[in-house]
Amino acid sequence: MKDNYYFDNAATTWPKPECVYTSIDRVYRALGVNPGRAGHAMSVEAESHVARARRLLSEFFGHRGSPERVVFAANATDALNTALLGVLQPGDHVITTRLEHNSVLRPLHHLRERIGLEVSHIPADGKGYVDPDDIAAAFNRRTRLIVATHASNVLGSVQPIAAFGAVARERGALLLVDACQTAGVVPIDMDRMHIDLLAFTGHKGMFGPMGSGGLVVGEGVDVKASRFGGTGVNSAAPSQPTDYPHRLEAGTLNLVGILGLEAAQDWFADLGRTSGSQDADPDEAGASSADSHGVLTRRALRVVEARELGITGRMLDALEQIPGVTIHGPGIATPRVSTFSMNVAGLDAAQVGDMLDGDGNVCVRAGLHCAPMLHQDMGTLETGGTVRFSPGFFTDEEDVSAALDAILEIARFAQR
Ligand SMILES: Cc1ncc(COP(=O)(O)O)c(C=O)c1O
Repeated sequence: MKDNYYFDNAATTWPKPECVYTSIDRVYRALGVNPGRAGHAMSVEAESHVARARRLLSEFFGHRGSPERVVFAANATDALNTALLGVLQPGDHVITTRLEHNSVLRPLHHLRERIGLEVSHIPADGKGYVDPDDIAAAFNRRTRLIVATHASNVLGSVQPIAAFGAVARERGALLLVDACQTAGVVPIDMDRMHIDLLAFTGHKGMFGPMGSGGLVVGEGVDVKASRFGGTGVNSAAPSQPTDYPHRLEAGTLNLVGILGLEAAQDWFADLGRTSGSQDADPDEAGASSADSHGVLTRRALRVVEARELGITGRMLDALEQIPGVTIHGPGIATPRVSTFSMNVAGLDAAQVGDMLDGDGNVCVRAGLHCAPMLHQDMGTLETGGTVRFSPGFFTDEEDVSAALDAILEIARFAQR
């Protein structure tokens, strides 16, 4: 019996692959000095890990531009702020969705108040999908940006990002994607999906530590600096360097976070190497080398995705049989990630969350999931939100049984 049955991977993945812990410990002990700030050998070697992490992440996200355009950030919220504040100008129009997390909604609200931005929020259908035609119909002369989450952090529905990208490209706007819930689970190819800016967090599906993440800036896209400070280059100049990554990376980097992301990238590549999956992959056609990091990690993501969706499918099948349980969103329909939301009739989400934790040691997130517009559309804003389960790669059958048994008991209790 485990101490905890963890179903809160959408908040942060836990545990991480063992090699992430060991690599951080080993490399940080040996090279835990300021990368890029000095010419001594240790600093240069620490910097070489940072550069390698940029290169791996660039390939991982199908970014065909310079790896220097992978800009490290404190998390996705930080990266989204950097992108939105660095791209939008007074009078611009932005199209976004009602699925968004507050890390998109609040910077947009701030900019609306501060510089008079116009924002259109496009609703999703009842299953949690936004129609690209609705995005196209919202365009006006001043539309500068589409910003959209790749997957809903409440429902798990994966959005047709490539279609959003095609609309943006056709109309001369930029596409910024919040990949928090997909990075490390769903293959992302910035080039093919026409993604201009990709914000990712390091501590969820990417298996890095908390406090890590980044913004990948497409070639030819201009993001102005909104923070200023030391970079270790051009120190005599009064203004921020304009080259990437220094333009958007002021201050000492989170070396532990970056080492963790680097180790996790190696873990994905190893999984791809050992997955044995030699199925023809259309994405691999034309790839420079069959064992390139991009190809290996895409192969790994097929394994991750299949494993996680297998667990979600089994859980949804079982939960649908329990009287009083309501499941929100796409059900087992795809495209989706493993995260799903549910409620138990007669109890609010917080009560269910407390019972799961207190009686069953089942860890979920209950309540509003920082996505107020979606909760409003679902009718769960006033009723206390939903119970969110997010199985992860390391969720096993024991976790699933514990969670299902606990929900069955809670639903029976609620019907008494
Ligand atoms: C869709 C989405 N966007 C943004 C965020 C913010 O991520 P972070 O807190 O790591 O910045 C989250 C985290 O829950 C999320 O689910």
